[in-house]
Amino acid sequence: MYSEEIMKRFTNPKFFGKLDNPDLIGNAGNPQCGDLLTIYLKISRKKITDIKFETLGCVSAIAASDMVCELAKGKTLKKALEISSTDISKQLGNLPVLKVHCAQLVTQALKDAIRKYK
Ligand code: FES
Repeated sequence: MYSEEIMKRFTNPKFFGKLDNPDLIGNAGNPQCGDLLTIYLKISRKKITDIKFETLGCVSAIAASDMVCELAKGKTLKKALEISSTDISKQLGNLPVLKVHCAQLVTQALKDAIRKYK
């Protein structure tokens, strides 16, 4: 059911954890499944220089969180806003159809953080 990439990211996520003194924090939650996600960003000159996540959720939500961090790191805030759930799913070797909302949750958290940038 899950691709190799999903299982790799779920069992050994590169970006799991909390950043000290993050510049931005984004949250998202899905009341139906109960999954909760927080993303921490460090910003310099409108670029994401560091990023981490804490996710309390399913296999797909954790793998998608790790992937969005990989895709967003080094990008400008504007470019990071363009990362879609489809991009995340593709990079993960395709999420199962019933799990696409997990990637949507992850992009919501990233957008929530970036919206707070002043
Ligand atoms: Fe809800 Fe994965 S099952 S985010």
